Amino acid sequence: MFEKFKSKSLAIPTVSGWIALSALLFVGCGSEPQFRLNAVHKLTLETEFQDGTPIPEQHIQQVGNLLTAFFGTPDQPHFPAGHESLVDLQRLNRAAGSVPSDLSTGRGLYRKHCSHCHGITGDGVGPTAASLNPYPRDFRLGKFKFKSTKMYRPPTDEDIRRVLERGIAGTAMPSFALLPEDQIDALVDYVKYLSIRGQVERALLEELTNLEEGEDLLPPKTDANQEDYEYALELVMELVDPILNKWTNAESKVVPLNGLPDDFQQRMNFYSDAGKLLFFGKANCVQCHGETGIGDGQTENYDDWTNEWLKRANVDPHKREQVQPFLEAGALLPRKIRPRNLRELVFRGGSQPADLYRRVKAGIEGSNMPAAPTLSDSEVWALVAYLIELPYETFFSDE
Ligand code: HEC
Ligand code: HEC
Repeated sequence: MFEKFKSKSLAIPTVSGWIALSALLFVGCGSEPQFRLNAVHKLTLETEFQDGTPIPEQHIQQVGNLLTAFFGTPDQPHFPAGHESLVDLQRLNRAAGSVPSDLSTGRGLYRKHCSHCHGITGDGVGPTAASLNPYPRDFRLGKFKFKSTKMYRPPTDEDIRRVLERGIAGTAMPSFALLPEDQIDALVDYVKYLSIRGQVERALLEELTNLEEGEDLLPPKTDANQEDYEYALELVMELVDPILNKWTNAESKVVPLNGLPDDFQQRMNFYSDAGKLLFFGKANCVQCHGETGIGDGQTENYDDWTNEWLKRANVDPHKREQVQPFLEAGALLPRKIRPRNLRELVFRGGSQPADLYRRVKAGIEGSNMPAAPTLSDSEVWALVAYLIELPYETFFSDE
């Protein structure tokens, strides 16, 4: 793998498309847009590991150079060699690029349909993001909520496609069902690309905090240091490969739909009664979703996208002076996550029994909604029946 990478795409550009210092500036007209540095993560790491001492600019530059070598730019995407099965470069190219004035070029799909919310970098801070609740997804954390796979595993292509086709009910995320299939395919690959790029960036930034004084992530390549250079590159690939491999294996981590009772549809009431007992008892859903299921239990939590910097950098969300530097680095104002109101029958990940089964079984990654590893399959199906029946139950009935 490493050999392949070396032979094919080791043209690390000397002029990097990296705008470390202008992380907050929007790229002006005329110039080719660039991916933005994950300045929030940089600041988090500096606060967590270095008492606020900035990471040297030269190291940030090295991360930028590596990212450009692996992933190219918003107009000219690449993908790490040896992992071509994961995304199709032709599709990436269709999704990438600027919105064409001449529609026949067929590029620019992501910027046309997605970037005003998700941002060109996929950081979830496009121009309209701050006014939306929930905020658009920041793909760079590599976490997805509405997927068929286990917690901490990337979604399958089909999962991303489903989100694009259906949209996410109850949020600003629209349905793109009207786009032709080949355009959806291109966008699916582009979401994976932005997400993987973001994860690699995070891993490389984290690695910077492990470097010894005077050490480089990747030393400049000269005739004299060939060996050191290759050794360093091998270490870098040891960080990058596992991220890509997880995506390659996503399909094998789909949560199987085990144990659906044959008479599930016919005896919904029966299963729902069992589910209700679990909801208030063993499964303790009531703790967050509340006595009446309206989502008024635990309401003081933040999601992982916010917790990442709040917790790691030990920021008190109520102290403006602590929050401010992170906002300046590009974070959005911390906003609490609410457990779903289960009486509205609006499920973001789909309302089919299979969708609900996976939601309850595997939890919702990135939120505090936990997986339910101790519930049996039949118990999970019973909870699914209760979720389907719950909106029709009379409030405050005393049985
Ligand atoms: C009007 C704003 C808006 C636009 C336009 C938009 N999205 Fe979203 N998107 C959102 C919001 C908001 C969420 C988060 C929903 C949530 O957290 O429940 C989201 C979430 C997502 C998710 C995450 C799903 C998951 O399982 O976690 C994906 C993938 C996604 N969007 C892809 C896209 C793509 C691709 C496009 C363009 C074709 C696009 N979005 C356009 C607002 C938007
Ligand atoms: C520790 C708190 C917590 C517990 C316990 C909890 N949930 Fe949740 N649940 C949440 C939060 C928060 C959300 C919203 C997540 C989001 O959209 O990001 C949620 C969302 C949901 C959704 C919405 C899924 C969708 O597609 O929109 C369902 C259904 C659900 N929970 C069912 C359950 C059931 C059943 C249980 C018990 C087995 C349970 N929850 C236990 C916090 C919790």
